[in-house]
Amino acid sequence: ILENLKEAPKDPILSLSAACKLDSNPNKVDLGIGVYRDEQGITPVMEAIKLAEARLLEAQTTKAYVGLAGNEAFNQSMIELMLGDNSSKSRAVGVQTPGASGALRMLADVIKASAPDATVWLSDLSYANHAPIMQTAGLTVRYFPYFDRNTKLVQTDAMMASLKEAGPNDVVLLHGCCHNPTGADLSFDGWQTITEMAVQQGFLPFIDMAYQGFGDGMEADAKGFRYLAERVESYVLTGSCSKNFGLYRERTGIAVIAAKTLAQSNRIKTRILEAARSSYTMPPDHGAELVNIILNDETLKVNWLNEVEQMRLRVDHLRNRLATVLREKSGHSHYDFIAQHKGMFSVLGISPLEAQTLSEKYSIYLVGSGRINIAGMQENHIDYIAESLLSL
Ligand code: LMR
Repeated sequence: ILENLKEAPKDPILSLSAACKLDSNPNKVDLGIGVYRDEQGITPVMEAIKLAEARLLEAQTTKAYVGLAGNEAFNQSMIELMLGDNSSKSRAVGVQTPGASGALRMLADVIKASAPDATVWLSDLSYANHAPIMQTAGLTVRYFPYFDRNTKLVQTDAMMASLKEAGPNDVVLLHGCCHNPTGADLSFDGWQTITEMAVQQGFLPFIDMAYQGFGDGMEADAKGFRYLAERVESYVLTGSCSKNFGLYRERTGIAVIAAKTLAQSNRIKTRILEAARSSYTMPPDHGAELVNIILNDETLKVNWLNEVEQMRLRVDHLRNRLATVLREKSGHSHYDFIAQHKGMFSVLGISPLEAQTLSEKYSIYLVGSGRINIAGMQENHIDYIAESLLSL
């Protein structure tokens, strides 16, 4: 029974760090997986997390099971963080999941159970794991035009024209902020248009919010999504604590359902718990309890918000610096779009072959879609990255 399987293809994102580690080139740069690094190249444990861990170590008296929905206080705190005082909060319920990938899968399973023929529309391009997760759950995937390969910004008109086809049996997956991989975000006008379309056409908005705080700030990044949440009948939402709490390996995420009524949301929640039970049972608690401690302590929360803001400003600075150096070295403005992008990533608009050349010849590791992780750079990499890119 175990002899029929061929080796699985390598993961397009996770395999890059391993390849970079094996590379002996002293100039190597890992711009693959989306982790934040400081100027020393380190992904630090955030100060607020360290303080919360000290408290947890002191106060925790048991490691007994928590429950299928994970840490309910965490769920509530995360809903507060993502929704603010949004009116849809009164019908929103959350389930803690192993990372936001776990949340994507749980919600996909629930959609499949409720509407087996549903189609999930993804942006072209989208996060490399969106299609595999949706398809493994048995859902059909379609793409809408999103990233304009010429301007490297969102092609809003083409996007909306294509989504005219989406109806009550469709799900439209939108990135809450800091679009992965492109870095090109929907404008607030774009959010208003898509909201109107969801209301009129009846498709289900599915929002993936993995980078809150890395675009324009913690509150500003939720503005478009919150506008939509106020107005649509139902939506589903995923949240991640990997980047803004730096809890990557703790796998701390949440799936949120806001159906027509709270009773309906709660009914759907029981289906997620059922799906969790038949796969991983319940999520790990450590990261969730740390987030809960931070979000419910005024001083720790202020410290944490401050740390996220410092990370955001650093990434923004690196973005602007890379765009400036590319302009100075090339004498043209082709790469100015990098400064306009938001969040940790930018898609450079180079071919997969050129991306491969960057990795193989220059030891600059990036995703095949041409995505670079700006948050993985150090200031002293920028000249080398710019020169390598311009030599293609
Ligand atoms: C990424 O896009 O690099 C991150 O979200 C990590 C992952 O799980 O793919």
